[in-house]
Amino acid sequence: MSQPELMIKTNAAMCAQCHGTFGVSQASSTIASLAAMPREELIQKMQAYKLATPTSSVMARLARGLTEEQINSLAIFFESQPRQSTLKN
Ligand code: HEC
Repeated sequence: MSQPELMIKTNAAMCAQCHGTFGVSQASSTIASLAAMPREELIQKMQAYKLATPTSSVMARLARGLTEEQINSLAIFFESQPRQSTLKN
């Protein structure tokens, strides 16, 4: 695995606990899938979380810890993941 590829997978793994492996959320989960989300949408949402108040929510805290570069590469990664129709959204 190349260095950038390893880095993006490591970053994406941070999201997997809640948003599912490769961004495909479990059918039983109420948390949105990230797989196949248009990259502009993911970037926009992460930027909104960075500015969100209160700052104590999971996503607000997480987004503040990510650089623009990390967010961009996550957006590209999740956009390219297939969304499985048997799973929630
Ligand atoms: C500890 C659980 C947790 C982790 C880890 C997590 N999220 Fe979330 N995420 C949530 C919850 C809960 C929501 C919905 C509630 C909210 O908006 O705060 C959410 C919402 C989102 C949304 C908005 C979805 C929508 O369609 O409105 C995006 C985008 C998102 N997360 C991206 C990410 C990314 C990227 C990562 C990894 C860097 C990540 N999340 C890691 C719990 C998590």
